[in-house]
Amino acid sequence: MKKISIFILILLFTIALGACGSASDSETAVSDAEPVAAGNGFMGGGMGGGMRDRHHAAIPEEYAGLSNPIAADEASLERGAAIYATNCATCHGDGGMGDGPAGVGLDPAPAAIAHTSQMLGDDYQFWRISEGGTMDPFNSSMIAWKGVLDEDARWDVINYVQALGSGAVMPGQHVGGAAFDPAVEAANQAEMLAKGVEQGVITEAEAAVFATAHEQVDGQMIQMREDGASGGMDEMMDDILAELVASGDMTQEQADTFISVHDRLGDAGLMQ
Ligand code: HEC
Repeated sequence: MKKISIFILILLFTIALGACGSASDSETAVSDAEPVAAGNGFMGGGMGGGMRDRHHAAIPEEYAGLSNPIAADEASLERGAAIYATNCATCHGDGGMGDGPAGVGLDPAPAAIAHTSQMLGDDYQFWRISEGGTMDPFNSSMIAWKGVLDEDARWDVINYVQALGSGAVMPGQHVGGAAFDPAVEAANQAEMLAKGVEQGVITEAEAAVFATAHEQVDGQMIQMREDGASGGMDEMMDDILAELVASGDMTQEQADTFISVHDRLGDAGLMQ
């Protein structure tokens, strides 16, 4: 079970990697400050094109590097659940998969935050919840919550969303919406790789290397987030691959294949 869910995360991660693959020119528009960190995100909700820019955006200096000061204990999750039900579920859905009733027809669509929260840094999430999405590169109807929810409330809801995505809590029953389903994610990844093979973008052998490496990288990525890592996804990726190679869990060749497959799938538009 655990393996499967990691696999799924990997899938998502793959998609996010796709996001990283295409450096967005809107990146610089986010902040005048030097890009402190690229969003270390993963796939977003509707998996639309906007997700790529979104997760590659530079986190403003005032947010970059923040990590959640509130432990995800029962009390925090309870507070977070209430905040979520009142303020977020209408768009993001009870399960945080971006399928709430008020999200229908929004472009870009609400993100599958239960899922993306597993791999995006706390700083990215806190920034996005605080400032919303009316600015570049998001240009979305995501609301800026900093005037509505105090900082603690924003951290509580992050704890809750992350718990939704990890399966630590069950979704509430308020507005409807799917729960994160690792099997669906795994199926999506398998489909993406199959398409890549079919279209001659990658070989079957490369797909297999990629799937395995993805699983390892994803597990590591989640670990890093749990340990409070922040920073850009590209950076994290390089570090993770270097670590896996150094520890003998992966050969340099497998790491190279992973990156290369990722880039080619991204270029072929298969990661969206
Ligand atoms: C009016 C609909 C709406 C409501 C309500 C809403 N959101 Fe969003 N949210 C969006 C949309 C649309 C996006 C995707 C576009 C973007 O990233 O700006 C989004 C994106 C996000 C992201 C970025 C995720 C990613 O993968 O990049 C986070 C985090 C988030 N929302 C959290 C929340 C939380 C927490 C609440 C409640 C406090 C909330 N949202 C309420 C519409 C909404």
